[in-house]
Amino acid sequence: MSDFDLVIAARAARAFACAEFSKFKVGAALETADGTIITGCNIENATYGLTICAERVAMFKALSEGHREFARMAIVADTEAPTPPCGACRQILWEFGGDLEIVLANLSEERSIHRLKDLLPLPFDARLL
Ligand code: THU
Repeated sequence: MSDFDLVIAARAARAFACAEFSKFKVGAALETADGTIITGCNIENATYGLTICAERVAMFKALSEGHREFARMAIVADTEAPTPPCGACRQILWEFGGDLEIVLANLSEERSIHRLKDLLPLPFDARLL
């Protein structure tokens, strides 16, 4: 699957976002090592604080279905500059996905590609326990 196809999957997931409070819809598509695509969208609720980002929804869905090896994640929001994952998501993606390729995109052709280790330098993880 190309980067472009992964972005298309994230864009489709974004349509399911439950973002009644912020109106800021995000979609994510996670590619496992065997090429399976697992998507997520952000989910907000009336307490605000229980919000979960699209990236963590995708990762938790994947983990709960038994996946343990991951390659890439695409993240899509409707912003001029593509939206990067928040700090909490970087931590979870790092611990469960390692140095993923992260493809950031908006609704047009704007795209940028990063490595998670560059987005989360000097990470805390199980190696330090
Ligand atoms: N959000 C994500 O889902 N992913 C990001 O990378 C940034 C933020 C969500 C959380 C909340 O529902 C809304 O976007 C505004 O912060």
